[in-house]
Amino acid sequence: MNRDFCGAGASPGKLSSEHQGAEHASSDDVPQPTRVVHHEDGVAWLGRQALPADHALVTSLPDGSEVPHLGFDAWRAWFVDAAALACAAVDDHAVSIFFQTDVKRDGRWVDKGFLVQKGAERAGVELLWHKVVCRAEAGTTTFGRPAYAHLLCFSRGLKLAPAQASADVLPRLGAMTWARAMGLAACDAVCRFLMAHTACRTVVDPFCGLGTMLAAANAHGLSAVGVELSRKRAARARRLELPGLAGQRSTLTR
Ligand SMILES: C[S@@+](CC[C@H](N)C(=O)[O-])C[C@H]1O[C@@H](n2cnc3c(N)ncnc32)[C@H](O)[C@@H]1O
Repeated sequence: MNRDFCGAGASPGKLSSEHQGAEHASSDDVPQPTRVVHHEDGVAWLGRQALPADHALVTSLPDGSEVPHLGFDAWRAWFVDAAALACAAVDDHAVSIFFQTDVKRDGRWVDKGFLVQKGAERAGVELLWHKVVCRAEAGTTTFGRPAYAHLLCFSRGLKLAPAQASADVLPRLGAMTWARAMGLAACDAVCRFLMAHTACRTVVDPFCGLGTMLAAANAHGLSAVGVELSRKRAARARRLELPGLAGQRSTLTR
């Protein structure tokens, strides 16, 4: 964990860690973004949701190594089901966005972009864009996890005009708050897309980990809702702060 990104000490008390439903303190009359983190199973939570039109879903579904009790085949099926459920929970004119890094297993490549697309197809949503996020410089040979991650955006009803395009290849992942985090450059690109091209002003991450996407959303003035199975991570997700993200990208991303 890079302590630079932890809210503890950055602005103590700004977000309450005492209870779910913590909110940023308001200043003057400017509406402040809120953050709520639920400690529960993200799949069960998603199954009860029909998210409002101004809520976007942005998440990284857990890798098989995070749910070892399932075994590989059951994890693959679970992953596709969870992607379908996540896409189905989103309003027709909102978006669902997935940040996923492939893995290699037994000499074979496990393409999580493909698995997300299987779930998306089942849910009846269409691909709006597919970005490649470089985890290492182009041309680098990596022997473990690949040198890039997928960033995929789907919607049932929204379409984008050619003039609404943005970079397909993000040259950097950006700093990471922990080993399984979504890189801050990717979080930043997602927030900028949501604000410029959608009516979504709340980000929902049903597998929120330490809350990187939630904190990035708040830094951009967007509200956030997270769900996390681990009680400790949920508690940390309520506290994480990324105060410089929206205004000082160059000092935070690398
Ligand atoms: C890839 S990590 C998410 C990282 C997060 N995007 C971040 O940047 O901090 C996936 C998270 O899903 C959590 N998880 C695993 N199974 C879950 C479930 N059924 N419901 C909710 N969270 C779950 C794991 O504890 C882990 O923190």
